[in-house]
Amino acid sequence: AMLEPGARRLAGRHVLVTAGPTHEPIDPVRYIANRSSGRQGFAIATAAAAEGARVTLVHGPVAIAPPRGVKAVSVETAREMLAAAEAALPADIAVFAAAVADWRPVAEAAGKIKKDGSGSVPALALAENPDILAAIAHRAEGRPGLVVGFAAETDDLLAHAGAKLARKGADVIVANDVSPGTGIMGGAENEVVLVTTGGTERWPRLGKDEVARRLVHWMADHLPEPRP
Ligand code: CTP
Ligand code: CA
Repeated sequence: AMLEPGARRLAGRHVLVTAGPTHEPIDPVRYIANRSSGRQGFAIATAAAAEGARVTLVHGPVAIAPPRGVKAVSVETAREMLAAAEAALPADIAVFAAAVADWRPVAEAAGKIKKDGSGSVPALALAENPDILAAIAHRAEGRPGLVVGFAAETDDLLAHAGAKLARKGADVIVANDVSPGTGIMGGAENEVVLVTTGGTERWPRLGKDEVARRLVHWMADHLPEPRP
């Protein structure tokens, strides 16, 4: 059917977005985290809502306000993010824009760890966090029809993105070079390459809001029909 001008392309769809960092507590005053402003994920949530989608935005600790008209679920740790993302299913589309901490301290110290004055440092035992994208993309039941991952890399961008596409079971990886000097991390712009099994699509450097709008249109173009 012809698309009416101004038609909202994701009307009736549910879009799940993860965004921001996770914080993995070491003790009551310290944590492990990735750098992430949450801006790109929040912009995707905004753009999906503008196309008429119902949006659930599961986000870690960020300094920006959640967009109007989306259901924001605030979490702290990777394990909480996984639980919140799974609780939000079913979804037609899932976009994993969060910068999830890969490891967490095995146990959070109950009290603040103190320097003892001798210069000795605490040994931090780490455990690997669950991969939220892989867990949801590999679901036998209730896999979203379109699974979008990100890959922020400083080296060998396309090789790493292609490996993540295959390993995690995503339908597309939005890859970006976050080397120091690009200004991407924390900045207002992004420069991405979409990596699918069909090939790569390089986009120019754009504002994160414009990347989000284009990505939402790309998703609408690639969304499978809902199952009857
Ligand atoms: N991701 C996730 N859960 C994790 C780690 C990553 O959902 N525990 C998602 C991210 O949101 C992103 C994609 O997986 O969409 C790639 O994240 P990235 O950190 O680049 O991949 P990793 O597999 O963690 O590899 P590495 O950090 O070693 O590059
Ligand atoms: Ca990682």
